[in-house]
Formats: sequence, structure tokens, C-alpha cells
Amino acid sequence: MNAVLRDDAAFLLPMTVADVGAVSAIEAAAYDFPWTRGNFLDSLAAGYQARLLKSAAGETLGYFIAMKGVDEMHLLNITVASSRQGQGHGRRMLDELVALCRMLQADRLWLEVRQSNTRASALYLRYGFKHIGVRRGYYPALHGRREDAAVMSLEIAGGRDAVE
Ligand SMILES: CC(C)(COP(=O)(O)OP(=O)(O)OC[C@H]1O[C@@H](n2cnc3c(N)ncnc32)[C@H](O)[C@@H]1OP(=O)(O)O)[C@@H](O)C(=O)NCCC(=O)NCCS
Repeated sequence: MNAVLRDDAAFLLPMTVADVGAVSAIEAAAYDFPWTRGNFLDSLAAGYQARLLKSAAGETLGYFIAMKGVDEMHLLNITVASSRQGQGHGRRMLDELVALCRMLQADRLWLEVRQSNTRASALYLRYGFKHIGVRRGYYPALHGRREDAAVMSLEIAGGRDAVE
């Protein structure tokens, strides 16, 4: 973790419908195939775990959306605003998500990540996620192609937390 850049005064709060405009703008700048406003609104309506990371000054630094199952959590979206990436905010949100898993008694946190997203994959592996499978053609890609997803999982039970 980059202790110099990390903004320890940043805090998490629930995402609401009023935040969807700002969130969609961050999303559109961060991905070639972003979630739509409708995807975010549907997630909120479905009661998914949706959090914003805000700086002390009120800037939206990033967000995550996760779906709780019986005893597991599926991370659907984690994004840091493009200009704020590489400053520890992604790791900070994973820390909060693991705390949320413990609170909601989810033993496992899992996610899909594009095979080409080496930066995010590296973060997850360093954090302690294990590669558990591949979903062929899971994501849309440029020129009408499809891209595989790596499926990764983090065991929460047993008190394991981030790999420091
Ligand atoms: C992936 C993402 C959420 C990570 O958040 P972030 O705030 O940029 O990452 P952090 O600053 O917390 O860095 C986490 C780790 O990645 C490393 N890292 C940061 N920038 C990096 C880069 N450009 N290349 C490689 N590693 C990098 C950091 O060193 C850190 O490792 P450490 O904690 O073991 O020291 C963020 O970059 C992002 O939103 N990317 C675009 C959207 C995306 O890909 N989302 C994930 C979809 S599955």
C-alpha cells in the first residue's frame, strides 16, 4: 500500500439514487464498456450493498456494488475515479468490503475480472484472492468480440484479511 498517498480521512457511505449521476460519470470514464445508469438504479432497487468512497472534502473517489448471497458476497463493480487511481483507494474499499462480509457473515467474496485487466488482477492476487476459474466470453470486447473473465475468490472465514 502507498501510505503516503492514501487518504485516511476518506470514508464510506451508502450510495443513493441521488449519487447515480456522479457515479455514472466516473464509470463512463473508467471503462470501455461501462455500466449504464439503469444498471446502477437496478442495483440500488435490488438492495445490493452499494457504497461510495468520499474524500473529507466531499469528492467521490470511488464506489463498489456487491450482492450478498446466503453465505457469500459477489463483488459486481469496484471502481476508483480515473484521476484517483493508484492512491490506495481500491485497497481501502476492499478492506471495507471484507469488513462488510464479516458483519453480514459472508464466508467468501468472489468476483469476475477481465483477463486483460492485469492491474486489477494483480491487486486482487496481492490482496489474497485465488484464481478459481474462467468464464469464456463473459465480457463484451471491442470489434464485436468477447473476452474471458477470470473468476477469483477470497476466503473470509478464519480471520484472514488483506495480505500486507
Ligand atoms: C482496479 C482499481 C479498482 C484499483 O484501485 P486503485 O485505487 O487504483 O488501486 P490501489 O491504489 O488501491 O492499488 C492497489 C494495488 O495496486 C497497485 N497498483 C496501483 N496502480 C498500479 C498500476 N498502475 N499498475 C500495477 N499495479 C498498480 C498498488 O501498488 C497496490 O498494490 P499494494 O496495495 O499491494 O501496494 C482501479 O484502478 C480502477 O477503478 N480501475 C478501473 C476500473 C477497474 O478495472 N475496476 C475493476 C474491475 S474488476
